[in-house]
Amino acid sequence: MSRLKKLRKYVNSELNKMEDADKRISAVAHLYGVSLAATMIARKRGLDPEIASMAAMLHDLHAYKTGSYEDHAHKGAGLAGKILDELKLTDEAETEMICSAIYHHDDKLVTDGPMDEVLKDADVIHHCMNDMSKAIKEKEQARFDKLCAEFGM
Ligand SMILES: [Fe+2]
Ligand SMILES: [Fe+2]
Repeated sequence: MSRLKKLRKYVNSELNKMEDADKRISAVAHLYGVSLAATMIARKRGLDPEIASMAAMLHDLHAYKTGSYEDHAHKGAGLAGKILDELKLTDEAETEMICSAIYHHDDKLVTDGPMDEVLKDADVIHHCMNDMSKAIKEKEQARFDKLCAEFGM
C-alpha cells in the first residue's frame, strides 16, 4: 500500500468519527478535493506531488476533529506532526515540509515557501471551484486570479 493510501486510511477513520453526516461528507470532499488540486499544482511547479497531497489530507483535520476553526492551522500543524510521527510514513524533512504547509495554510494574503504556497493555492481552488455559483471570498480573490492566469483558466 502506498504511503498516501496509508495516510488516507488513517484520515478516513478519523473522519468517520464525525457524527453529522453532511459535515462528514463535506469534510471528505474538501480534503480529497484539496489533495487532488495540490497534486496538480505541485506537479506543475516541479515539487513533490505526494508530499503536497499528504499535507492536503491533513490540513483541516484539527478543525474537523474539534468542530472549531479557532487557530486551526497552527493547531493542525501540531496534530499533523503527531500523526506523522506515529505512522512513520515520512522522514524528518518531509514531516517538517508537511507541518509547515499546514501551519501557514490560513495566511492566504502572504507568500511563504513553495510547498506552503501549493497547499494555500489548492485550498483556494477547492473553495472557489467546488461551487462556482458561490461568491469568492475577498481574501482569496487575488490568489484565485493568479491561479487562473498560471493554469490558463
Ligand atoms: Fe483550513
Ligand atoms: Fe481547507
